[in-house]
Amino acid sequence: MSEQSNYEKLSTASDRGKKAAGEKAVDYVKDGMTLGLGSGSTVYWALKKLGERVKQGLNVKGVPSSTRTENWAKEFGIPLTTFHDVQELDLAIDGADEIDENLNLLKGGGGSLVREKIVNAAADSVIIIADKSKQVTQLGKRALPIEVVPFGWEVTAQRIAQCGAEITLREKQEQPFISDNGNYILDCQFELISDPASLHATLSQLPGVVETGLFIGLADRVILE
Ligand code: 5RP
Repeated sequence: MSEQSNYEKLSTASDRGKKAAGEKAVDYVKDGMTLGLGSGSTVYWALKKLGERVKQGLNVKGVPSSTRTENWAKEFGIPLTTFHDVQELDLAIDGADEIDENLNLLKGGGGSLVREKIVNAAADSVIIIADKSKQVTQLGKRALPIEVVPFGWEVTAQRIAQCGAEITLREKQEQPFISDNGNYILDCQFELISDPASLHATLSQLPGVVETGLFIGLADRVILE
């Protein structure tokens, strides 16, 4: 069964929450906007709704944050552009794996965190869409995804472990998962993250770390359903 037909089954409350949140985000899209298109199963619903609005005459274009999003956007008829042509986005719509009360996020469950962060940081405004299970008091219950350069990843993993995490190299079909940027993802289980900004700053300084899945101060609004 394809990923999409799996989403369309809406078998759990969380699936239905994702659909409702994704669709609601499209109410904030105005004619003429250039959009950042996030990644994940919640974003799938936003893209589907946006495609319907485009068919009705809404004029927008979007920068996709992953190959998967690019493919969905094409399927739904959403015009696309790139950072070669636009450097500022009006609005980004993206999902999250955890959202704390200060709207700091843990992201990267789908492995698209680098492009998502670039897209979110380029947007005037960022709307995060999620089902209610993603709301937490403190980040870090889930493992934190960190994108690393494949060369020397073992050394990078050791340095991250010294910061207090248990590390798992993400795999797909028993091979290292490769991000859209050709890198590896380390899933790093910390104790609960009490100071996300400081942890992000520490991890970002380690050689081999491309980006962390901690999104600090980027989200402006959260739609939780
Ligand atoms: C991908 C992400 C996603 O936005 C996050 O994993 C949420 O995904 P979903 O909407 O499928 O729950 O950060 O890198």
